[in-house]
Amino acid sequence: MRPVSIRFKLTAWYVLVFGVVLACFCFSIYVMMERKLMHSVDHRLQTMAELISKTELCVVPNFLPPDFERRLNRIFGTRPVGKFIRVLDLSGETGSRTDNLDDKKIPVNKKLVREVVTTGKIIFETQYPLGPGMPIRFINFPVIDFKSHKVKGVVQVGTSLEFVRESMRNLLVVFFVLGPSLLFVAGVVGFFLAGKALKPIREIAQTTRHITVNNLDERITVPVAKDDIGQLAATINGMLDRLSLSFQKITQFTADASHELRTPLTIMRGELEISLRGERSADEYLETLGSCLEEVERMAKIVNDLLLLSKSDMGQEVIKFEPVDLRILVSSLISHFQILADEQKIQLSSTIEEVETIYGDQLRLRQMLVNLLSNAIRYTPAGGKIHLTLKNVDDGIEIAVADTGIGIPEESIPRIFDRFYRADKARSRQYGGSGLGLSIVKWIVEAHHGTIKVDSVVGEGSVFRVSLPTGKREPRDIENIF
Ligand SMILES: Nc1ncnc2c1ncn2[C@@H]1O[C@H](COP(=O)(O)OP(=O)(O)OP(=O)(O)O)[C@@H](O)[C@H]1O
Ligand SMILES: [Mg+2]
Repeated sequence: MRPVSIRFKLTAWYVLVFGVVLACFCFSIYVMMERKLMHSVDHRLQTMAELISKTELCVVPNFLPPDFERRLNRIFGTRPVGKFIRVLDLSGETGSRTDNLDDKKIPVNKKLVREVVTTGKIIFETQYPLGPGMPIRFINFPVIDFKSHKVKGVVQVGTSLEFVRESMRNLLVVFFVLGPSLLFVAGVVGFFLAGKALKPIREIAQTTRHITVNNLDERITVPVAKDDIGQLAATINGMLDRLSLSFQKITQFTADASHELRTPLTIMRGELEISLRGERSADEYLETLGSCLEEVERMAKIVNDLLLLSKSDMGQEVIKFEPVDLRILVSSLISHFQILADEQKIQLSSTIEEVETIYGDQLRLRQMLVNLLSNAIRYTPAGGKIHLTLKNVDDGIEIAVADTGIGIPEESIPRIFDRFYRADKARSRQYGGSGLGLSIVKWIVEAHHGTIKVDSVVGEGSVFRVSLPTGKREPRDIENIF
């Protein structure tokens, strides 16, 4: 099936709604008009009947004066053209009548006459003459006796409904001519307006269609009006901004990852080539092998970290939420890092408060602390100090790792959690880092519904503060950093 354009759909809806409204409007006009005309006919009939009922023509209803029409002319001052008049007695028998009213063609409805006689009410009726002819509207007007105040007869005055029928027919003709013309005009105008309104959308679609990976920085011209289309253009531009940023990050990430893996490979290749150039002693081979192993370990760490991060991106890395005693975890890590700190001549101390149990993944929390402590040791020169604090705060617990190390330049602080970012690339590589440790820390903290903050002064040291909420939690999807 061919897709129907919005423009066509909008026009069709517009014409349909307009048609329904127009039909309702015409119908109401028709009904109102008919009522109004009938009402004025009835009103005129009533005035005449009332007048006749009070004249000598109705003194004795079944009396047949020979000059009925002449007397009528006298009453009205003119001939009542087109009016059908007859005076009936109580049983509905015709007394006097105008010549145009043939009892055979238009018989008296005796049931109705009886009703007028018994109730004394005015009753209107529409009679269809036997044979051809227009329907006639009649009033059945009771003639009241002055003395007894009782109904003594009925005056019937009728008029042809030809004029009403004709007027209504004319109105219908107007409707049938005007209606379709108006619908046609509405359709044309609707189609034009829909096209005009949708033009910016067509332009947006056209521009968007041309945007590919190669020109991701192209943007849609946002219309000046802050209407829905302006918002749509701005939204698409916002999406393009995010896409472009993600794409840049992915490109950067791929380049960084390849670069990080290439460095140890280059080192290994160089060392192996040198070893193979001539015969070496067993010690030299051992040294080369040792150095190669070091590089392999370095690569393995990078690959493992990358794997963990990409699994977390895809939501495949499941965080378990089990009760974790942080005091035990922190104490065991401190004793583990004590050996490393002593080797580097760094003083490692801790303040561990009694804290509430938190719910989380013991293994991941341990990894987070290992990364923070490794950084502290890595970026603190000999003679420095590292202090770890575990304490209760308002809405959970806080773990702070403070060092008196090299510090982080202010402009680098917002970026240290980015993958492969190192504040000082040259020096960091010498320290052996690849720039993935803090990305993993950030992911673990956020997966535990926590936050991480950094305060650092170059040359004085840094403090990393991790806040974790206490109480039971559900695993949460971490927004993909891309
Ligand atoms: N305690 C710290 N003191 C000074 N600089 C730090 C500290 N912690 C992190 N940094 C800076 O932040 C950067 C990113 O740290 P991150 O732990 O992510 O990477 P890394 O330590 O270089 O490598 P690795 O992936 O092995 O951890 C580091 O390269 C370093 O420049
Ligand atoms: Mg690190």
